[in-house]
Amino acid sequence: MKESTLYIVPPKQIHLAILMDGNGRWAESRGLPRSAGHRAGVEAVRRIVRAAPSFGIDALTLFAFSSSNWQRDPQEVGALFGLLEKFFFSEAATAAQHDVRISAIGRRDRLPSTMLAAIESAESATAGNTGLDLRIAVDYSGREAILRTACWMVSSTEVTQREFSRRLAEVTHTPEDLPSRDVDLLIRTGGEQRLSDFLLWECAYAELYFTERMWPDFTAADLELAIRDFRGRDRRFGAVPASVASVSAS
Ligand code: IPE
Ligand code: IPE
Ligand code: MG
Repeated sequence: MKESTLYIVPPKQIHLAILMDGNGRWAESRGLPRSAGHRAGVEAVRRIVRAAPSFGIDALTLFAFSSSNWQRDPQEVGALFGLLEKFFFSEAATAAQHDVRISAIGRRDRLPSTMLAAIESAESATAGNTGLDLRIAVDYSGREAILRTACWMVSSTEVTQREFSRRLAEVTHTPEDLPSRDVDLLIRTGGEQRLSDFLLWECAYAELYFTERMWPDFTAADLELAIRDFRGRDRRFGAVPASVASVSAS
């Protein structure tokens, strides 16, 4: 019997990036300290990490601490790092169950040693998981990553975009065996409509989705709304869609 030539093409997997904003305002509106907002924000992270694979997301990059956030009160920074460290440890402990691979992107030379240890232990404990590639951006600046890559490349005469992306992943400590990925969809919660130095190179053709929802209130239902919206977008990458091209050619 002739071998069947039919095979199922899976829907394209999504690299989702989230700028998790609004923790401070969420807390302040309840008369709570900002750190309470960050604590509630970690719960939202857990919800979204669990829900992501069911929406076709295979890579999720979360902005947890930007290089500009060093300007904040040291107490707030300390509270945030404490929560992040706990997150890396606890998430690594359950990651095998959910097949999540955890890594951190950003600078490492300014992080407290306890944070570094939490990151390294989460990375090594989850290196074999392949279900969801979860990247946490800590002390991350998109502009600085591009600048450092450009400096490294300065002696090369010709550099392809692929090579540049590869090096960019390297300077932000992305694990070597993980490919650098363009972002498909970027969500920013908290009502602001800006990138705040997140994944500037990788978002060249990202679809942008802004919501008023504060991050601690963000649920799987909100994620579903964003994904539905994304699935309805016409991604052209500068080309003319096939349907329009055939009409204009005739
Ligand atoms: C986002 O929430 C988390 C971090 C930047 C670490 P914010 O702390 O920026 O919350 P708002 O924007 O002040 O409400
Ligand atoms: C961006 O949020 C950084 C993170 C979400 C970690 P910010 O609250 O720091 O950004 P701005 O200050 O509103 O641009
Ligand atoms: Mg903010």
